[in-house]
Amino acid sequence: MNKLNSLGIIGLGKMGSALSENILNNEISLSVFNRYNANEKMVIKNFINKNKKFKYLKGFQNLSQFINSLKKPRNIIILIPTGKIIDKLIKDLIPLLDKNDLIIDGGNSFYKDSIKRENLLKKNEIEFLDCGISGGKEGARYGPSIMIGGNKKNFKRIYPFFKKISAKDLQKKECCTYMGGIGSGHFVKMIHNGIEYGEMQLIVETFSILNLKYSYPEIVKFFEKLNDSVDNSFLLRSTISILKEKKSSKEYVVDEILDEAESKGTGLWASIEGLNFNQSNSVMISSLMARNLSSNKLLRKKYNIKRSSSKLKFDLKHIKKAFYISKCINHYQGIEIIRKAKVDFNWNIDLSEIARIWTNGCIIKSKLMIEISEILKKDENLMNNSKFFNSIKRGEDSLKTTLTLGINNNLALLSFSAAFNYWIAITSENSNANLIQAQRDFFGNHGYKNKKTNTIMNYPWKK
Ligand code: 3PG
Repeated sequence: MNKLNSLGIIGLGKMGSALSENILNNEISLSVFNRYNANEKMVIKNFINKNKKFKYLKGFQNLSQFINSLKKPRNIIILIPTGKIIDKLIKDLIPLLDKNDLIIDGGNSFYKDSIKRENLLKKNEIEFLDCGISGGKEGARYGPSIMIGGNKKNFKRIYPFFKKISAKDLQKKECCTYMGGIGSGHFVKMIHNGIEYGEMQLIVETFSILNLKYSYPEIVKFFEKLNDSVDNSFLLRSTISILKEKKSSKEYVVDEILDEAESKGTGLWASIEGLNFNQSNSVMISSLMARNLSSNKLLRKKYNIKRSSSKLKFDLKHIKKAFYISKCINHYQGIEIIRKAKVDFNWNIDLSEIARIWTNGCIIKSKLMIEISEILKKDENLMNNSKFFNSIKRGEDSLKTTLTLGINNNLALLSFSAAFNYWIAITSENSNANLIQAQRDFFGNHGYKNKKTNTIMNYPWKK
C-alpha cells in the first residue's frame, strides 16, 4: 500500500514552495497541490524535480488525489492569495474531507473572514486554524515566525510540525506560539504588518533627511553604525543591502525604481482595526498615507514646485535618537491595539510571547523587539516601563530638531510627524478637546461632561 503523508500544502507560490522545502528538510512527509491552469501547468512538475531527493514528497494537480494521499485526520495548510479564492477552495475541499480533518490558512487573510470560515467549517465538522506566517520567502524557507489562532486542541495537534519549521529565538525557543481564539493568529499578523509599514517608512524618512546632505555610501555608513547599535533590525539591514546595490559604477538600482509605493492590504486593515479599537495608531496610518500619496507620480509631476532649501544644520546624534524613539512609538501603538483586542475578544494572548516570537524569523525582528519582549513580561503597557518612557522623553528634542530640519527643507515626513504629535499629545495633561466638546454641543446638542460636577449636561448656547 502507498504510504500516506503527514502534511499537505495547497499552493506552491513563493511562500508555499519555500515553506514546503522547509517542511521537507525537516523530514516531514509532505503532499503538495497546485492548481492546473495555462500559467501553472509546470508548477508541480518543476517542484518535484527540484526536490526529487525527498522520497516522501508527492505532488498533485488533482484535489481529491491530493486529499487521499494524506494520513487521517488530515492536516492541510493552504497558502494561496487572500480573498474569495480561499472561500472557493474551502467549498471545493468540504465534500472531499472527513470529520476532524484540519485546514490551516497560512496566508494573510483578514481575521474576520477567518472567523466566518471557522464557523462554516465547524458546521461541516472540519477543524480550522488561522495562522500568520511572517518572514517572507526566506523566512518560510529557513524558519518563519508563526502566529496561530483558533482552538487550542488543534494548535497542539499541529505544533509538533510547526515547532520544527519555525525560527528559533536567542534562547533557541521556537518562534511559534498560540495566540488565542479564532481570528487571533491573523489579527496579530495584521498588526505585525502594520508595524512593518511604520518601520519601513521611518527608515525611508531617515534616508531622505540624510540624503539632503550625504551620498548613498555615506548614508550606508551611518545606517551600518546604527545597525551595530540598539537600532539593529532586519529592515535596516535590508535597506543597507539595497542602497549598496549598483547597476554600474555610477548607477544605483534604487534609482531605477519608480517612486510609487504599493501595498497588498494588511497595512490598511491594521490601520482601520486600530481606529476601530479606539486607538491612535498614527505611525502605521501615516506610513500607509505616505504610500498612497506616492502612488500617483503623474499628479505629483503636474503639481511639482521647485523649492529652495534652507541652511542645513546637521547633527547625526539627533537623527539617530529621532529614529529610535519614533520606532518605540510605532511599536507601542501597534502593541496597544493587540492589548485592547485581547480584552475585547477575550483572547488569552501573552503580549511578551508575541514580541518574543517576533524577535526572529519575521520582517520586524530587531534588537528593540528583544527589549520590548522583556519589558512586556513585567507590564503589558510598555509606557508604564520607566526606562522605555524615559528613553522617548530624552529623545523628544532630537525628534523636534530632526523634524524641523526636514520641514525647513521641504520634506514630507509623515511618520516622524505622526510619532512626534502622538508623543506630545499623550504626554500633555491638558488638551483642546473641551472646545471640540463645546462645538459638538453647540450644533448637535451632544452634551459634555462638566469638569466640576462630573455630570453630562447641555449648555443653552447663544446662536
Ligand atoms: C507581506 O505580508 O507580503 C508583506 O509583509 C506586506 O506586503 P505589502 O507591503 O505588499 O502590503
